[in-house]
Amino acid sequence: MKPVGRVSLSALKAAGQLRVSYPPFDVCVVWSDGRVYAIEDACNHAGASLAQGRVRDGLIQCPMHGYLFALETGELVAPRGLCAAQRTFHVALEGDDAVIADPFDLTVTDASPPGPDRGGDFSD
Ligand code: FES
Repeated sequence: MKPVGRVSLSALKAAGQLRVSYPPFDVCVVWSDGRVYAIEDACNHAGASLAQGRVRDGLIQCPMHGYLFALETGELVAPRGLCAAQRTFHVALEGDDAVIADPFDLTVTDASPPGPDRGGDFSD
């Protein structure tokens, strides 16, 4: 997993939700019902910051158009089918910190373009 960042639990409990910089879409970290959740911050509908939204009953409501996403899974709960689920992130507790990690490490280890010797074929 790729490290994203960490937030103080005491600061998170006081704020309710915090945005952690993780370009290009950042991560919204939420304290709700005694748990920490981490979900992509930029709403998949039109990019509003979910960290500015409201949290209730395991859901976060986007501040721009009111779409509801499940904090646990990122699933769009309502309205259904109008955009993709938000990505969610791994959370581990270390002392007074919540440590956020990206389960999808998209780091490119070999930037060579595909070609005939790598299973690709660019011939016409
Ligand atoms: S930008 Fe989030 S619901 Fe439209």
